[in-house]
Amino acid sequence: MLYIYFFLLAFTLLAAVSVIYQGWRNGITPMPSSRRAAALMVRCAAEEAARLDSEPRPGQASADVSKPIYIIEAGSGWGGVAIALARRIPEAQVVGYENSPLPFFFSALHARLNGCDRVSFRFGDYRKADLSHADIIVAYLFPKGMCDLAQLIEPESTKRKPPTIISNTFALPGLQPNRKVQSGDASLSPVYVYRSPDVFIEPTHS
Ligand SMILES: C[S@@+](CC[C@H](N)C(=O)[O-])C[C@H]1O[C@@H](n2cnc3c(N)ncnc32)[C@H](O)[C@@H]1O
Repeated sequence: MLYIYFFLLAFTLLAAVSVIYQGWRNGITPMPSSRRAAALMVRCAAEEAARLDSEPRPGQASADVSKPIYIIEAGSGWGGVAIALARRIPEAQVVGYENSPLPFFFSALHARLNGCDRVSFRFGDYRKADLSHADIIVAYLFPKGMCDLAQLIEPESTKRKPPTIISNTFALPGLQPNRKVQSGDASLSPVYVYRSPDVFIEPTHS
């Protein structure tokens, strides 16, 4: 019995240390979006997905609703937002990238237990991932993370039309959002929507 207590204690300590260490390396902890901010991000993504469905995709002459909408969550934490996106948007294939081991395992298990087959989680750094097929990127990061994201989606760094970016709390530096919506949560987090390709036509460089 004592062994079980020791095992549980060691596991809990190891898990806490891994979350703190990876949070220190990333510059951000796996703190989830508030309920209201998460719901607003999902609603904005659903509206963008509907808009994308009604437009021709890059390289196509007409709209093709049979093609899935690819949504990537950069830093998916415990997986709540990615799973909610897959549930709310039936035409979406959602991939969450997370490089903190404990939140990654939790989110993968959560998706599996809930039978969400249109969402998957990948362990690793989203900055090293191929984001070129993304139609929408969702994120709740921090100012430095937004700079990294802005570089990743520059038109010349993608093989096709850059994705729409939906960000909780943090703006993309130097770009004018198409929408800024208040979530009404306790920390008054806005959600920003940068609709491709508009943002690359009239940057504000403020
Ligand atoms: C504030 S949390 C947000 C979690 C989730 N997106 C949400 O809205 O509930 C940010 C997450 O991004 C992850 N993260 C930060 N930088 C990352 C990177 N370069 N690659 C993968 N994940 C990263 C962190 O580990 C953390 O779990």
